[in-house]
Amino acid sequence: MPALEDALISGYEITPMPHVAQQIIKMISDPDTTAAKLQDVISADQALSTKILKMANSPFYGIPRAIRTLSSAIMILGYKTIRNLVFADAMKSMNKRFGLTEIMMWEHSLGASIASLLIAKEIRFPDPEEAFLAGLLHDIGKQIMNNYDSQKYMQVMERTYNEDVTYYFAEKEIFGFSHPEAGAHVVKKWKLSEELEKAIRYHHDGFQVLIKDNPFYLGKLPIIVNLADLICIKSGIGRKNKYPELNISESEAAALLRITEGTISGLTDKIQKNFESEKDNFNY
Ligand SMILES: [Fe+2]
Ligand SMILES: [Fe+2]
Repeated sequence: MPALEDALISGYEITPMPHVAQQIIKMISDPDTTAAKLQDVISADQALSTKILKMANSPFYGIPRAIRTLSSAIMILGYKTIRNLVFADAMKSMNKRFGLTEIMMWEHSLGASIASLLIAKEIRFPDPEEAFLAGLLHDIGKQIMNNYDSQKYMQVMERTYNEDVTYYFAEKEIFGFSHPEAGAHVVKKWKLSEELEKAIRYHHDGFQVLIKDNPFYLGKLPIIVNLADLICIKSGIGRKNKYPELNISESEAAALLRITEGTISGLTDKIQKNFESEKDNFNY
């Protein structure tokens, strides 16, 4: 698929992931990494250290006492949460520009990450931090495509607003490939987990295909992200408009996760509240 590869190489090269973030991601998957080593790398980047401390102290993490040092942030929150905060920061700096479109994309990522974590906790998914990361990265393909050719991506967005077609459809027509495909490639390049790659690739309706082709596939991550996305779409999180008529309890994701209407409305309220209060903490 030359169009996809071309876009990925250019879109990615224009704005690669910051060096410190790359180092940290590598370290976290290495079993020999210690908290002290991690602290050394993060503290070499003063701006990143300050941001991590600010995010770690946000009410979202519910730590009763103030976290004042990087070493206690690592100890209290754990490697995976620190990795997620580094990703949240890196995602912003990987935009070629940061205008209205990019702000909306960023808010949608943040909303979906909060939503994915809260859904994961609700259904007792064993790795809620992985769900947070999946939500954060689910639409990274859009970001890469927008970096590659923002004029063309503007056309995609206009088509979705004016003709009521999905992003997937408009992207296929205009770029020849879609954001879940582009995103999955990037996640693979970063050597993140295969489950995460699947979550990005199948976060729209692809998860039904995934289950149909692999009846024994039990991974819930793509479904969690799909549901998180639906809640953000309905609530207008990082979107131009709200979509109040969307009946999430009738979605396939809700059925597969066995989530009832009452739970969905409770989750939606919680997600909206957390998103509103966290927007500024993550928006340094
Ligand atoms: Fe998407
Ligand atoms: Fe999305």
